[in-house]
Amino acid sequence: MKYRTHNCGELRKTNVGAQVTLTGWVNSIRHHGKVGFINLRDRYGITQILVKDVETCHGVSLLDKIRELGHEWVILVNGEVLARPKEMENPNLPTGEIDIEASEIKIISPSKVPPFVITNEARAKEDIRLKYRYLDLRRQPMQEALIFKSELYQTVREYLHKQSFVNIETPILGRSTPEGARDFLVPSRFHPGKFYSLVQSPQIYKQLLMIAGFDKYYQLARCLRDEDQRKDRQLEHTQLDMELAFTNEEEIFALVEGLIKHIFTKLLGIQLDTPFKRMTYKETIDKYGTEKPDVRYNLFLTDVSQIAKKGEFKIFQEAETIRCIKWEKDLSRKELDELDNVVKGYGLRLAWIKQKEGNFSGPICKFFTPELLKELTGTNDGVSLLVAGSKNRPSLALGGVRNWLIEKHLPLKKEYKFLWITDFPIFERDEVTEEIVPAHHIFVMPQDTKQLDNNPESSIGRLYDLVLNGIELGSGSIRVHIRDLQEKLMKIIGFDEEQIEKNFGCLLEALEYGTPPHGGIAIGLDRLAMTILNRKNIQDVIAFPKTLTGAGLLEGIPSEVETKQLNEVHIKVNHEKKDE
Ligand code: AMO
Repeated sequence: MKYRTHNCGELRKTNVGAQVTLTGWVNSIRHHGKVGFINLRDRYGITQILVKDVETCHGVSLLDKIRELGHEWVILVNGEVLARPKEMENPNLPTGEIDIEASEIKIISPSKVPPFVITNEARAKEDIRLKYRYLDLRRQPMQEALIFKSELYQTVREYLHKQSFVNIETPILGRSTPEGARDFLVPSRFHPGKFYSLVQSPQIYKQLLMIAGFDKYYQLARCLRDEDQRKDRQLEHTQLDMELAFTNEEEIFALVEGLIKHIFTKLLGIQLDTPFKRMTYKETIDKYGTEKPDVRYNLFLTDVSQIAKKGEFKIFQEAETIRCIKWEKDLSRKELDELDNVVKGYGLRLAWIKQKEGNFSGPICKFFTPELLKELTGTNDGVSLLVAGSKNRPSLALGGVRNWLIEKHLPLKKEYKFLWITDFPIFERDEVTEEIVPAHHIFVMPQDTKQLDNNPESSIGRLYDLVLNGIELGSGSIRVHIRDLQEKLMKIIGFDEEQIEKNFGCLLEALEYGTPPHGGIAIGLDRLAMTILNRKNIQDVIAFPKTLTGAGLLEGIPSEVETKQLNEVHIKVNHEKKDE
């Protein structure tokens, strides 16, 4: 049986008179007296089927037959392409100038009444959409997103192959290492009590491939991390993972810029300006309060420590630094309370001064003379939002305030502003344990190896991030290719010889067999698609995503498994612990 001669998005006026067969889903049915209309849908579009009150070979009227149909039934329609009368044309539909006048309608596959109507807007609740994801994926925006990603992957592959990159797959079952995010563990059946870990990224493998002589590697790599979920974070994501030998930052920036420019031209018809702007980590924290600023908006942080300390406000006098954002509009009391909550999330408090036509108001005004207030807040009306504290913390808190203001009050800008952030510190202090941990990962070449000996905590790495519209799209670095230096970095984060050997022995040994200097980057492809398509949540560009608590509502996972399966992998579940 031939199911279709055309798809549902294809027929135009030029096809008028043709006998065609279409198969698709019933998107809607309308009855108008002696005629009926079915909108038939597939992934290519919608075609309107005109059904007249004609008798079929079985003696039933076609019009009666379509009364049996419901939304989402799969039907086959044989018929003739007709031009619509001018006044009936639908300019919003690519097939809007024609109808198919049905001569036969066959039911291919009925449907239960769907739990939600398949419309462009997501009207159903998220949990229902995820449970019936195969129905949610029939919605046009979801189809667009997945088709866009498919084209994106194809474009990336073509571009990199032209530049002699080799696509190499690396294992998903890897070794659990103590740095980085939490690993997903897979128990071994053959080796009782031993585990694989699902790789968080192919980092070590790609470095080994450089040592193996594949000087230009890439992979569209699935990465698995047992992290808390956010709107731009999933347990599983896909990276464009790249590594190059005999390279430097400039070459990597040029490669990525060329690739992104090509993607935008080919898939969106947008010409991007390259090179992308660059900013150091310190500059971006000082100016925007975040390492992934949305630079589409000209809202900046300023350092007001010197002026603010001149007043009588004790908290300011005792603080290491005071930063400010001047919002040149009014904010309500409720909004200021919300912003205070944002700042509390960073362990600090918000102070504010309102200014209108030369008058100042706000709880801290009494600590300042009118002259100081003027100096502190500048000339324009508005609200000065101030945060005091130590180190980067006031800036980071105001970064949160800045994001809140942008989201709540500034119009969405349909621009794409890329930015490289460079000169990141190699290490940071874990907020909870206070231990020194790698800010990115531990394979980063320091900018100055002497600094590493004298003051490791302030060491800057040859690290870079690519940011687009406030989203961290990619991260990379020039790597350490010298064993001793690599061991030194590992010792700084507190590993002893034994831990180093146990966890990273294979890489360290490989470094001794003629390692080319190398570096690379990984770009989050789900995030890239999400940002390009202006979707608010990464779930909206992933076919079968997990919820914020890591559940798969469609499959009902995570799920319990049979005791037999657990025995095979030598695992006993402690149910008491679970119930605590
Ligand atoms: P990193 O961990 O920074 O670097 O990841 C690189 C990019 O991958 C994306 N990404 C994610 N996307 C969705 N959900 C997640 N949970 C998630 N985690 C990361 C981001 C991020 O910028 N091996 C290094 C790269 C390197 O040094 O070459 C790495 O994985 O867009």
